[in-house]
Amino acid sequence: MKNFLVTGGAGFIGSNFIHYLLDHEPECQIYNLDALTYSGSLENLRDVEKDPRYHFIKGDICDGENDALIFKENRIDTVVHFAAETHVDRSILGPGQFVQTNIVGTYTLLEAARYYYADSKGSFRFHHISTDEVFGTLRPDEPAWTESVAYAPSSPYSASKASSDHLVRSYGHTYGLPFTITNCSNNYGPYQFPEKLIPLIILNALEKKPLPVYGDGKQIRDWLHVQDHCEAIYMVLKGGTPGSSYNIGGGNQPTNLSIVELICDLVDEMRPKSSSRRDLIHFVKDRPGHDRRYAMDSSKLQKELGWSPHYTLQTGMRETVNWYLEHPKWVAAIHKQVEYQAWVEKNYVQR
Ligand code: NAD
Ligand code: DAU
Repeated sequence: MKNFLVTGGAGFIGSNFIHYLLDHEPECQIYNLDALTYSGSLENLRDVEKDPRYHFIKGDICDGENDALIFKENRIDTVVHFAAETHVDRSILGPGQFVQTNIVGTYTLLEAARYYYADSKGSFRFHHISTDEVFGTLRPDEPAWTESVAYAPSSPYSASKASSDHLVRSYGHTYGLPFTITNCSNNYGPYQFPEKLIPLIILNALEKKPLPVYGDGKQIRDWLHVQDHCEAIYMVLKGGTPGSSYNIGGGNQPTNLSIVELICDLVDEMRPKSSSRRDLIHFVKDRPGHDRRYAMDSSKLQKELGWSPHYTLQTGMRETVNWYLEHPKWVAAIHKQVEYQAWVEKNYVQR
């Protein structure tokens, strides 16, 4: 692993991963290919932009000629493919972009990778970042998902991610492209775009705005701190078996409502006010087709590579709330975006 192509590196997990790589791979070269859509920002990488090992390339993964050129010019040996449309609510209101980026984009990148690999014959890995949502939804009594469970995606977002996973596997099977896939549960931590539950609730709580909880708030997610996700990806790149996939999860089972309450209590503690932020909790119309419960069985990753999360939900949430409170300029830049305001209007005001 020397020359990394990281796609979507200006987004939440991608930028955390680039920070992680720079800390752990002294000899690497990183090429960050990102289209800078609404959720990508170079502010997430401001502190490393002058590092001689880091290079930013503005571009769309759907541009096959550009993808091919990047592989060739930079002799890429490791692809870490994060670039995607990622918000379930946006996929419900507009699925087309999800089909384009997540399916067509992944296909286009795979095409460039397979021709480059066939020509170069060197050591190569295409690592695809996927999600637990490809498995669908769980009833309360069902066991956590292992890697052998059949896919049953239920939103346009998860269906597009499932399609991209299938394409990656097919390129391994048909063309011999060395790949690995990780399917991870819900991440939280620094630099997450505040359309997702945790940063949205932290920032609304801080500003004393209503805290929108979909439906009855009893849906369950398996939360993982982004740093633990980055470590898992790194371990799979180093020691994972080519041609296989690994499930990653935090082993947490809180309801959405209890996550929102935890955030309220942390914000109350760090920025005390006369009334509790819990008073701002506001139940709103449910997400159509809302998956009820996710849970990942990470025992393959634990047994094969010795991975386990370092953060508990308590330590991770405390650090995350604190990060958002300490980065008002980062937050203000997003709040000012016309696109962001339009999204809040569309998803919440018109709900
Ligand atoms: P994000 O929305 O924060 O970032 C996505 C990045 O991809 C942005 O920088 C964006 O500009 C870039 N991008 C989008 N379309 C592109 C295109 N056509 N070409 C190049 N760049 C493009 O997303 P995230 O939360 O960091 O998720 C990253 C990956 O991890 C995704 O593949 C997602 O499915 C997966 N994932 C996310 C989570 C989570 O909880 N956030 C959990 C499991 C898996
Ligand atoms: O599970 C992994 C997935 O987690 C990733 O693949 C996705 O990219 C990521 O967006 C995330 O999907 P979710 O839909 O689970 O995350 P989100 O933060 O949007 O919502 C978490 C839960 O909170 C979900 O049950 C919906 C609920 N919710 C969300 C928002 C934005 C609310 O109740 N209110 C809200 O305002």
